[in-house]
Amino acid sequence: MTAPPRTDGLPALLIVCVLAVASVVIGAMGVAPSRVTAEELLGAARDPGETAFVAGHRGGTTAAPENTLPAVREALRAGFEYVEVDLVLTADGHAVLMHDRTVDRTTDGQGSVAALTLDEVRDLDAGSWFSPAFAGTQVPTAEEFLDVLAGSHARAILDLKGTWTPEAAATLVGSLVERDLERVVAVASFDARTLAYVQARSEVVARLISLKKLPSDIAHAVRQVGARGILIGRKALEAQPEVIDELHAAGLRVIVYTLNSDTQWGRVTDLGVDGIVTDDAGLLYSWQQGLADG
Ligand code: G3P
Repeated sequence: MTAPPRTDGLPALLIVCVLAVASVVIGAMGVAPSRVTAEELLGAARDPGETAFVAGHRGGTTAAPENTLPAVREALRAGFEYVEVDLVLTADGHAVLMHDRTVDRTTDGQGSVAALTLDEVRDLDAGSWFSPAFAGTQVPTAEEFLDVLAGSHARAILDLKGTWTPEAAATLVGSLVERDLERVVAVASFDARTLAYVQARSEVVARLISLKKLPSDIAHAVRQVGARGILIGRKALEAQPEVIDELHAAGLRVIVYTLNSDTQWGRVTDLGVDGIVTDDAGLLYSWQQGLADG
């Protein structure tokens, strides 16, 4: 009698080759990468009292000037799991890290970012206003930030300010793909059109809806546009805390901004928010550790 062929002794190299060929075939068949889930990017939905993830606001604002590479590098060096940065478009359509519509507060220049070219923005000093130690710090491009992020284990929330163009959204998505960052970044915006432009370029990248107020039936609204959750101000959330359960039940996440005191952290943790944006991530981590230690 002929024994059936054995498969348990296949050399490892053969198995690796078979898997490699299979992945090439699947790729050639055009199987798209799966959409990033809320759980994958933001973790499991928190129960009331459970520790929320921490996101350093504007890359961190205490150790270095906000939305600059020194701030981001310090946040990453300190081991923060998420950084939140703001991106605005220059007159020639480049995304740079900045919160305000004008360069007045955080650089030595004046005027609207949208009226300045990238070269003009790059000539500005974005560090001296914070401290002479940061004199000469440039306004980073989105690509510079993503290069730093790609060299870390951190995740990021990209807060797209204003209304973007389809071209700028496409460039951003391309930059994420080039650096293999599609699965570690969430794109947030107050502007529905901007989020739609991102979605048009990638169904993979997770999107978050930024809100100052909560519309009725928020879970339905978020699901309808395929976003993964909301970024919401504390007061609006505390006025309608029941939305946390509604969003969690719909598989969505709730991130609250921008909280800087233990009283505020305590309140939203008791409500079961999933993430907290803060100016002082180090202090929030210490506070969370204190809770865990009882
Ligand atoms: O987008 C939500 C949150 O990050 C807003 O913060 O920097 O605009 O005050 P910010």
